[in-house]
Amino acid sequence: MSLLKIRTYPDPVLKKKALPVESINGDLQELIDSMVETMYAAPGIGLAAPQVGESKRLIVVDVSSKEGDIPLIVLINPEIIQSEGRIVSEEGCLSVPGYVSTIPRAEKVYVKGHDREGNPIEIEATGLLARALQHEIDHINGTLFVDRMSPIKREFFRKRYLRRLRETA
Ligand code: NI
Repeated sequence: MSLLKIRTYPDPVLKKKALPVESINGDLQELIDSMVETMYAAPGIGLAAPQVGESKRLIVVDVSSKEGDIPLIVLINPEIIQSEGRIVSEEGCLSVPGYVSTIPRAEKVYVKGHDREGNPIEIEATGLLARALQHEIDHINGTLFVDRMSPIKREFFRKRYLRRLRETA
């Protein structure tokens, strides 16, 4: 286990559609443990493999520090199979530090995938868990929350964010 470097916008790995995980082996278990450790250390409530430079369809989510008594979720090759409703709420991302925005998301999602042992799992989620799952699954499709902002807001964000990057470089 080790702390991994979190890639930040505009790192190109964040824009890539990640590849499915094909075998669950020791390397993958190590990556999962390191991602969990990195998420807690950040601290964050979710992390997707592309955020640590691994273009794989793998996410970890733990919203228990903010909402409910929900255990850590490790999902391999997750897929949203159904979504319902719409809710607008504030969101941020470890790969876009220092920036939050209100983003529309489905209110309820059904997600299927595999757990870290490879067993198929299905999750029905609402509230912050639903939002976090959608956010992390976006990551493995190369989508950042800023891509879900209105074009005007996004342009404003881009200018401000890139200016700040230049100033702190
Ligand atoms: Ni994120």
